[in-house]
Amino acid sequence: MTIEEKVGQLVQVTGWHRDSLSGPTVSPQQEELIKRGLLGGIFNIWGAEATHEAQKIAVEKSRLRIPLIFGLDVIHGFRTTFPIPLAEASSWDTAMVERDARIAAREASSAGVDWTFAPMVDIARDPRWGRIAEGSGEDPLLGSLMAAARVRGFQGNDPSQSNSIAACAKHFAAYGGAEGGRDYNTVDMSERTLREVYLLPYRAAVDAGALTVMSSFNEIGGVPSTGNRALMTGILRGEWGFRGFVVSDWTAVTELILHGVASDTPHAAALAFNAGTDADMESGAYLQFLPRLVRDGKVSMAALDEGVRRVLRVKYALGLFDDPYRHCTPEREKSNILTPANIAASREAGRRSIVLLKNSGGLLPLRKDIRSLAVIGPLADDGANLLGPWDALGRPADVVTLLEAIHSAVSPATKILYAKGCSIEGTDRGGFAAAVESARNADAVIIALGESREMSGEASSRSTLAIPGLQNELLESVASAGKPVILVLMNGRPLAIPWAEEHAGAIVESWFLGIRSGNAIADVLFGEYNPSGKLPVTFPRTVGQVPYYYNHKNSGRPANDAEKYTSRYIDLPSSPLYPFGFGLSYTTFDYSGLALSPGVIDTSGTVTVSVSVKNTGTRPGEEVVQFYVRQDFGSVTRPVKELKGFERIALAPGESRQVKFLLRGSDLRMYDAAMRHVVEPGTYTVFVGTNSRDVTELHFSVQ
Ligand code: NOJ
Repeated sequence: MTIEEKVGQLVQVTGWHRDSLSGPTVSPQQEELIKRGLLGGIFNIWGAEATHEAQKIAVEKSRLRIPLIFGLDVIHGFRTTFPIPLAEASSWDTAMVERDARIAAREASSAGVDWTFAPMVDIARDPRWGRIAEGSGEDPLLGSLMAAARVRGFQGNDPSQSNSIAACAKHFAAYGGAEGGRDYNTVDMSERTLREVYLLPYRAAVDAGALTVMSSFNEIGGVPSTGNRALMTGILRGEWGFRGFVVSDWTAVTELILHGVASDTPHAAALAFNAGTDADMESGAYLQFLPRLVRDGKVSMAALDEGVRRVLRVKYALGLFDDPYRHCTPEREKSNILTPANIAASREAGRRSIVLLKNSGGLLPLRKDIRSLAVIGPLADDGANLLGPWDALGRPADVVTLLEAIHSAVSPATKILYAKGCSIEGTDRGGFAAAVESARNADAVIIALGESREMSGEASSRSTLAIPGLQNELLESVASAGKPVILVLMNGRPLAIPWAEEHAGAIVESWFLGIRSGNAIADVLFGEYNPSGKLPVTFPRTVGQVPYYYNHKNSGRPANDAEKYTSRYIDLPSSPLYPFGFGLSYTTFDYSGLALSPGVIDTSGTVTVSVSVKNTGTRPGEEVVQFYVRQDFGSVTRPVKELKGFERIALAPGESRQVKFLLRGSDLRMYDAAMRHVVEPGTYTVFVGTNSRDVTELHFSVQ
């Protein structure tokens, strides 16, 4: 390979719209680059035909005939849109999450896609950050299990299978720690928090075999990730043994100039490449300057060779050298996409992702033969928004809205009174009167409120967590009609809903559930499915409480609302509106007989924790039994509790089950005062319960 051909393998560019009818394809300039061997891959291009056409240029017209790799953001489905990742994390169901990623891979790989820019595994403790929608929430264990499940789903048992695609764990690292929740913003955190919380899901993705990693836009403590050698080379490759390639995020290489660590584009290219960022997404800096930097000795030939090897290794792993067209087969494209089975899986995922936040007096489930129902709100008959952010090839026309699903769920005799009421944003109260009128004339009200899909995802941070526009006012007006009100939330982040919590009869958190959103929600509203989701993220009372997460430190003056001189706000209760792990069911579960043994272990020992859980209600239901641990004291301060395990169990009415959890000494590892990764002797508390707040506890010690 010439130096130019080597560098070419490290260049990733976005496709180009030839016209509005076909998907993006390659531009004449890109075609030229492909022929000269100067492009390694193209992203945002799909379709068996378009990718085949581009691949043909690489394989037939370039000197070395190295196949291109085609990338796309397949975040929660390709054409069959699944619930957004934050929603799927609410299922606490890793098998389901793996299956859904597998389906997405099967669809995408049938349409020319070799590589997805997913999973996004960034921990998010600040719901102002719009990209919280794309991840699995605030907890490192839940986030790690979800990360690994998605990698397994995308890549399958073998990435070279024709229905597998390469995963990309992103955004390395700590992109979710942006100050103020503002996208792309500065991150400044201790190495301890970085290692104990934020890095864990990336590590889990790498251990699960993720073939690629994406560098993040942010800096950490003064060093932008894309130019951070300690991160990309030291931790990722040195400590974790990652052998795939790192791609920068979109123009992150040249952004090193605005960060203020590179003086010009060649400097940025050298910094990024020498840090371990193998491939350059979209900035063009490598294409333009890397050959010269190698000739000038600013980048070594050995390092260039290694970067090229990493990219080629991934292409080999995908089987592209055996068959460069393995993902561009029009027959598979026709038969594999949006199949009835895939659609059914999306509905199933939707209902398992729903979290029941409130249900006073057993208002839900509703009877299907209820005489009349008012269905109100800007999202009640909206399809497009329910696709959520990053919907790949999702189509609004494929979505079943809540109103449509309610129509097909209820008895023919049920009268449905629909009123939009107002828009998601805006100041027009013109629709209020009709909405209140339909509430007056109905036996119960279902009101669907929330965010538009553009309000979460990239570059969509919000400064408030309120339900936008006049929607809360609409809720208040409708509630004044005096009928039972069921609030269905549709949103990409936790919202602060103190008024609703006090006044709505029931609250259903449905996030954005994809193409079968309406059916999934109706399944829950009418009792076809007993909700079992649990929050993967804390719901604060107000935006002023954030960042607010359950695994915080205690401080020397832990919050006590009865005492002034403690760590709290004087104008609101210290508790969250809904704690991490929270979610109700139509049945009730009773926890009893918590036991552990032995009470004393050494650092390599194992404690068996057991608890008996009984379904004390009248319906079959599923419960996520949660285990948390606290190190009571250590050489450094420790979180008040940390999730260490969970199990999803199904129980018939009256049935009980003993749930066992093995806590190994290694589960207690932490970074001590000298940053050694150790288990410290001392006493520990185990908490078991239905969420992070409602727990019972026992103690053991480590000698
Ligand atoms: C920028 C986003 O930050 C990243 O997540 C995405 O994969 C790339 N754009 C490509 O679309």
